[in-house]
Amino acid sequence: HAAPGVLPSLLMCDFGDLKSEVTRLEQAGAKVLHLDVMDGNFVPNLTYGMPIVEGLKRHTEMPLDVHLMIQDPLAFAEPMVKAGADSLTFHVEAVPNPIDTAKRIRDLGVAVGVALNPGTQVTDVEPCIEFVDMVLVMSVKAGFGGQKFDPVALDKLQILRNQYPDLLLQIDGGINLDTIASARAAGCDLFVVGSAIFNHDDYGAAIGGLNAEIQR
Ligand code: DX5
Ligand code: ZN
Repeated sequence: HAAPGVLPSLLMCDFGDLKSEVTRLEQAGAKVLHLDVMDGNFVPNLTYGMPIVEGLKRHTEMPLDVHLMIQDPLAFAEPMVKAGADSLTFHVEAVPNPIDTAKRIRDLGVAVGVALNPGTQVTDVEPCIEFVDMVLVMSVKAGFGGQKFDPVALDKLQILRNQYPDLLLQIDGGINLDTIASARAAGCDLFVVGSAIFNHDDYGAAIGGLNAEIQR
């Protein structure tokens, strides 16, 4: 089982100075970068695509964990892998056949995750769990950073942890010093954090404080 860890989400950062943001995160002890890709269709917001992923790849050794908040993940899976994505997470709500989507992403040679929004039930992801490496339980509705944590995610993590003791579990949305310990207690392994890092001047202190909460 992977050691628990905090993944900075590149969404609330300074996009005008991405290279220094990545350097600062590396120096702050980040081990993996979480990239929030949005298409203005599956979610009502737009972020970035392959050129940014490819540019980041040239500037960091950190693995790139790409969260695809897009309607057609298979249309972009291969270009994302070519751009340097190390793992690709698709939303179960977006695709007609999650098992097929998971298999096809895995065939590209990367890890695959399936994400579920707060309004989606665990039973909706269960059929494809044997074909994925990770389940991402959203604790906000995908689309924007800085939203309030929805505790419905905790029940889902607990159910998944009980049923699949070895499954990698990730949580994303509203994770901060007040919420991270509850997600850890529910069995979560990986904690995506946006505003609770980028609202701080000292990223090292922010990540260190969050890590202390999950390692106790
Ligand atoms: C939400 C994104 C998250 C989000 C996390 O759509 O997937 O990664 O940016 O940001 P905070 O921690 O601010 O909720
Ligand atoms: Zn995300």
